[in-house]
Amino acid sequence: MIPKKALFLKRGYSFRHPSPIEVSRLNQRLKYPYEFIGEILITQDQIEERVSEIGAQITNDYQNSEKLMLLGLLRGSVMLMTDLMRSIRRPMTMDFMLVSSYAGSESTGFVRIDSDHKSSIAGWDVIIVDDIVDTGVTLHTIKKLLQDRNPRSLKICSLLDKTARHKVDLSIDYCGFEIPDYFVVGYGLDIDEKGRNLPYIASVDLEKYHQLYG
Ligand code: IMP
Ligand code: MG
Repeated sequence: MIPKKALFLKRGYSFRHPSPIEVSRLNQRLKYPYEFIGEILITQDQIEERVSEIGAQITNDYQNSEKLMLLGLLRGSVMLMTDLMRSIRRPMTMDFMLVSSYAGSESTGFVRIDSDHKSSIAGWDVIIVDDIVDTGVTLHTIKKLLQDRNPRSLKICSLLDKTARHKVDLSIDYCGFEIPDYFVVGYGLDIDEKGRNLPYIASVDLEKYHQLYG
């Protein structure tokens, strides 16, 4: 059982459970037809604040780059991509890859590229943008593949990181929040395509989910 008090994390930002008041306010305001939601872990406001901090950091780090490209991994990165690009004050382009490795709440450990990026990344400063790092296998595989395509630089940005679950050595250059080992949905993340439209990050009550969907 993970203690509910604030978890202080290594890079100076913290994940904290929203207060019961914040959660009940959210529940009243936002009614979504997902019965399998466990608890709200990260609110819309917390995400907004952290994403603009990352945008400011990227703006600063890429001051000398005229060839910045955000490369989003679909479909989980959609919300992060659109919010992040609005807070980057540099010229930039974007592209996407459609990648999958999960079935339900289980990683298959096998990364499938369903659709590749369309623009060349050779000579570009590329930031791969993903929703969550779990075992790290997906981003490790994609990073290796993209490195061979000769970008000028290649970094990783992920909204969430389940550090306790890493199976490969992967450094995340821009990380939103480190979270405990929950299966989560919202802000682009899904369980079997459900839950992506929630504007916050919530845990899934897996027992309830399996009662509902088998
Ligand atoms: P990894 O290869 O094990 O790091 O898995 C990464 C991918 O698995 C992510 O890009 C997500 O699509 C999916 N994933 C991992 N954990 C979760 C979760 O808690 N909720 C939703 N999707 C997840
Ligand atoms: Mg994903």
